[in-house]
Amino acid sequence: MLPPRSDFPADFTFGAATSAYQIEGSAQGGAGPSHWDTFAATPGNIIDNSNGSRACDHLNLWPQDLDLICDAGFDAYRFSTSWARVMPDGVTVNPEGLDFYDRLVDGMLERGLKPFLTYHHWDLPAALADKGGWQNRDVAAQFADLCTTIHDRLGDRIASAATLNEPWCMAWLSHFLGHHAPGLRDIRAASRAMHHVLLAHSTAMQSLRAAGAKNLGIVLNFETQHPADDSDGARRAADVQDAIYNQWFIRAIMGQGYPEAALEGIGPHLPDRWQDDMATIAQPLDWLGVNYYTRHLNAPAPGLWPNARDVPGPLPKTQMDWEIRPEGLSEFLVRLKTDHTGDLPLYVTENGMAHAEGDLVTADTGRVQFIADHLRACKSAMDQGVDLRGFFYWSLLDNYEWGWGYGPRFGLVHVDYDTMARTPKDSWHAFRRMLTA
Ligand code: FCB
Repeated sequence: MLPPRSDFPADFTFGAATSAYQIEGSAQGGAGPSHWDTFAATPGNIIDNSNGSRACDHLNLWPQDLDLICDAGFDAYRFSTSWARVMPDGVTVNPEGLDFYDRLVDGMLERGLKPFLTYHHWDLPAALADKGGWQNRDVAAQFADLCTTIHDRLGDRIASAATLNEPWCMAWLSHFLGHHAPGLRDIRAASRAMHHVLLAHSTAMQSLRAAGAKNLGIVLNFETQHPADDSDGARRAADVQDAIYNQWFIRAIMGQGYPEAALEGIGPHLPDRWQDDMATIAQPLDWLGVNYYTRHLNAPAPGLWPNARDVPGPLPKTQMDWEIRPEGLSEFLVRLKTDHTGDLPLYVTENGMAHAEGDLVTADTGRVQFIADHLRACKSAMDQGVDLRGFFYWSLLDNYEWGWGYGPRFGLVHVDYDTMARTPKDSWHAFRRMLTA
């Protein structure tokens, strides 16, 4: 059972989250190709060789998807706009794309849902990828143009906006580990991307503020990095991963500078005079979004920096093989307040689990437990003084899980990818009982 809503303040926001490429259907509505389309077209990159061309056909089925959010009793919907849909070549506006988001936002308001917009959740136009994508400093200014273009159209009806979703994934996972588009494994490309995504965020913040936008933030992901044993090597491995993953972005944004343990490896490959950008990068936020899923165990790896490798842990795991550790969420919320964000309002903008397809009730028992445990972790952080304002479940629908394709099912609502039929799972009903009691 989920905890009662009365455990949370009356104005605490409960919502469900999705992203454009994962649900809309990228081949429709005049969108241009994104680097995710081309990454997915390369054999071996996606487990089931699938792509987001049809996804959940949300582009056409959005009214029923919004009904599902509203009927569950959620207050808000976190969605993203697709760069490749709004600007198919990265620069020129596709009116059909902006019209779609305009209708979508009106649809939220008609149903009493607060629109929580994320300007960019990874579908970079292929035309910009051709110019180096996040390795190219100019993308920062282009991203700011995208944001103000969307703000001009939607800004009067948006409750809250984030610039980027998970810059660690955009930069490190995509340019160093090679798991996400553009699939590079290159320290120089990754280091440049690590800096330019922050420059893009902050340049967009400046432009959006100048255009009168309110309630602006960014969504960062955090994953606990523990040493696999009590050796010095394992401790060092965990510390360097923590610096890259959990400190790089928030420290720079809060004006605390890049962490030394990450600069050791990344510093030599950063663009010239990167230090000159640090003041720009530290734009004040109105809130911070926290995505939390799991923890890692780190062992030393001899050879090359960062000299760390992941080892499997002993805790129960989700369909993604991610360890389930709810207390990590409260630990991060408290740590953020103590070490970085102070009194800045926080939101959990993503938390959820994938479960293999199965009977929609019994197979979902684990998900209901997962949500209950993570909501209690939120409560515990609030009891410790964290100004947490909301919780968004990832995800409303089963959808395209990037390199994993359509196998992992994160949804509160099951999607039959042949018929596109939506069927609420037990976890959706559990939220409904909690939120409409
Ligand atoms: C996050 C992403 C989201 C989804 C979940 C499972 O890293 O923001 O798109 O893939 O993980």
